[in-house]
Amino acid sequence: MATIAEQPAPAAMRDTDYLTTRMAVEVPELGGDVRCWTGGSDVPPLFIERQGEALNALDVFLDWVRDHRATLDALMIEHGGVMLRGFPVGSADDFNRLMALFPRYEPGYVAGMSPRKTVTGQVLESTRLDEKFKINLHSEMAYMKRYPPRIALFSKTTAPVGGETIIGSMRLFMRRFPDWLMQRLEGRKVHIVRNYAPAGSTKNAASVDHPDKIGWDDAFFTESREEVEAHCAKLGMEPIWHADGSLTLREETDVFTVHPITGERIYRTNLHTNTNFDRNPAFAGIVAAVRAAQKYPSGHYLDTGEKFTEEEIEAVFKLYDDVELAWPWQDGDVAILDNLLCAHGRNPFSGPREVMVSLLDR
Ligand SMILES: [Fe+2]
Repeated sequence: MATIAEQPAPAAMRDTDYLTTRMAVEVPELGGDVRCWTGGSDVPPLFIERQGEALNALDVFLDWVRDHRATLDALMIEHGGVMLRGFPVGSADDFNRLMALFPRYEPGYVAGMSPRKTVTGQVLESTRLDEKFKINLHSEMAYMKRYPPRIALFSKTTAPVGGETIIGSMRLFMRRFPDWLMQRLEGRKVHIVRNYAPAGSTKNAASVDHPDKIGWDDAFFTESREEVEAHCAKLGMEPIWHADGSLTLREETDVFTVHPITGERIYRTNLHTNTNFDRNPAFAGIVAAVRAAQKYPSGHYLDTGEKFTEEEIEAVFKLYDDVELAWPWQDGDVAILDNLLCAHGRNPFSGPREVMVSLLDR
């Protein structure tokens, strides 16, 4: 979870050009039991759809994934991500077995900013953030120095209205990155301050209206302060405990992260979302109450101590808006995205929706 904005749920799922522009992609290495297509060049992800009945049994499908791992990994780099559609993945256990074929991101969701719990194994809830909020495009855990290289999303129950996992090409984003902003940000560091509520604050909460209200025990999956401190040491964060039981984390990242495989330089920070809540009148009361209680107010700052200006915020939001894609999801869809090359988010929704997440290494 990176940024949220209140928006009315769409009347119907967006039917973009995405589905009407299907470009077949030949991947002979995957064999004849699947077909591949994209929505065009620079339009992630690569859809890989089951053809025929051969891969309609879970064990056979998992064997197929195991046998084609190297090709699938390469396709995730080439296209920013893959979308596995029509395969027999129906439950959290099925998804967990699929995820077990990929290297897991060992730190998991420790110190994450979205309220979510473990479902089973390495499968997490997507988020418990209120359904009326849109989660804007972001790189998972862009507010941390250490981050998951890949993220997988499984649509167990697709919302009847809205709720699509939205995505966007960060390659396209970077090609459109304005020169004036690049000159200002090149080589710069980001100082990040984050806050968690005392342990137990979100124990039984169905949803949370501000990320700073998440209890630190929910964020760190432990009630032990010693364990929190050990995690912080490993992840490069400085923990500061307060008398009321709340916790502040401080750390430093780069504005641009170099992709370890392709060498591409990708914007990976939440500098532009600093004032996201503050600017939204719907959050005025919540933000005022949250900030008033913080000794070190949450925020992202450049190493000069500056925050983003309005012009800079607008420029980055426009870049994200312009690369945003949505298409109707189906039950059983599994997307595996390169977390640097492909941003993700969520449209607001109504009705039942169950989407699960897994964080992966490469
Ligand atoms: Fe996310």
